[in-house]
Amino acid sequence: AVTGSLLAAIDGPAGSGKSSVARTAAERLGFGILDTGAAYRALAWAALRTGIDLDDAAAVENLLDLWHYDITLQGTQRVAVRVPAFDGLPSDEIDVTAEIRDHSVSGQVSRVSKHPAVRERLNAMFRTIVAESGLPGVVIEGRDITTVVAPDAPVRILLTARPEVRAQRRAAELPGLSPEQVLQDLIARDAKDALVVDFLNPAPGVTLVDTSELDFEQSVAAVTDIIRGAQAHQ
Ligand code: DC
Repeated sequence: AVTGSLLAAIDGPAGSGKSSVARTAAERLGFGILDTGAAYRALAWAALRTGIDLDDAAAVENLLDLWHYDITLQGTQRVAVRVPAFDGLPSDEIDVTAEIRDHSVSGQVSRVSKHPAVRERLNAMFRTIVAESGLPGVVIEGRDITTVVAPDAPVRILLTARPEVRAQRRAAELPGLSPEQVLQDLIARDAKDALVVDFLNPAPGVTLVDTSELDFEQSVAAVTDIIRGAQAHQ
């Protein structure tokens, strides 16, 4: 438990609006926001850069011993990593905020996130980041936050939307791809990620917020209302 700081855990699949809704809700509440997917993405990026085998759990764990991960919880979220020097490349801290969103990373993340030992290490890191935030509250979002990372959080929300709605939203962000193609990709990625954690069904005690019929503002309002309700009972 993090005394004095309210923890709000939000899980959900791609296209549920989770990232943007969680971020906006956190800003309005004066809370920090921790996007846990960014750490999995940054780890995949670091693994690709150092040339290790992403399917090799021990190699990825070894990289976790050597890397330094840095993420800001307020304002523009900046993600930086320091990887060990190799092949003459410096070990400077590198801003990977934009690069971790690249297709070349997205397509490889599940190769590092599938290792249970790697997940445990990152989960411990997430708990430390939250505990040391010094903020009145932190919204932490991902796939297994309500169930594994922070099952005791006073606020636990699963944000979902019907697959067709999620694909439509994604297609709007990715011009050039057909909605059918986006839907197929989305279902494929959900299936791969769901092998590791169930983020499509709410665990007991988790509040389900279905945004299929909600616009962005209504989704943000739904989440902030739930968090304010918990604040009132703090
Ligand atoms: O939310 P996102 O698309 O940025 O997540 C990137 C990848 O990391 C995604 O394939 C699922 C994985 N992930 C995870 O396994 N557990 C989390 N808590 C967050 C993300």
